[in-house]
Amino acid sequence: MTTYAIIGGTGLTALAGLELDQAQTFETPWGAPSAPVQRGHYAGRPVLFLARHGHPHRIPPHQVNYRANLWALKEAGAEAIVAVNAVGGIHAAMGSGHLCVPHQLVDYTWGRGHTFFEGADLEHVTHIDFSFPYDEPLRQRLLGALRRLQLPHSDHGVYAATQGPRLETAGEIVRLERDGCDIVGMTGMPEAALARELGLPYACLALVVNPAAGKVQREITMAEIEAVLASGIDEVRQVLAEVLAD
Ligand code: HPA
Repeated sequence: MTTYAIIGGTGLTALAGLELDQAQTFETPWGAPSAPVQRGHYAGRPVLFLARHGHPHRIPPHQVNYRANLWALKEAGAEAIVAVNAVGGIHAAMGSGHLCVPHQLVDYTWGRGHTFFEGADLEHVTHIDFSFPYDEPLRQRLLGALRRLQLPHSDHGVYAATQGPRLETAGEIVRLERDGCDIVGMTGMPEAALARELGLPYACLALVVNPAAGKVQREITMAEIEAVLASGIDEVRQVLAEVLAD
């Protein structure tokens, strides 16, 4: 049976309902992960859980140590990774509360530790194939769970990974839309690429928590984002439980 790891994002710093067996602290060649890796059972199935921003939420997207997080999960025995990400909606179909399992991404982040292939010990440079950044069988497992639960969702979408921590300008969102992006978040990269470098199948379950900048003629507030998160995260938990039970 596959050992799944869940990386919880904003709104999912703890997995309510996780029966915790052990919280394991790791020190990796890349430093310390955001939080201890929690090992336990969810919906009766073994699972690993890591809070991307720490628990409580304290590490902003551009300062997450993605390399340490992925390294620690691999060392903990993860065989596949389901990432949960809060995002802004660009495409009209991506209204607040909507769930999306993206099939592509565009990376606009910069200055993050984004590869394991660097440093003095490196024997040779490896260029991973990243044409299709998300693992298709894992994406299909997520989509199967969403269908069985009859939750409205998009079965594909292009995720724009921005640097943050500020939200985008309306002009930037026009550009991302022109680039073909449907949703926008700050944590999808380099996480997905690092998982690929470690040979770990990786897929993303994105929850739209606000219309992207300029899509509504008003300010986007944290209060609005938190309200959508509070109501939407329950569906995310249902999907995760269903994926594990599959
Ligand atoms: N932009 C970038 N990241 C986000 C957003 C957004 O509008 N909402 C949640 N994460």
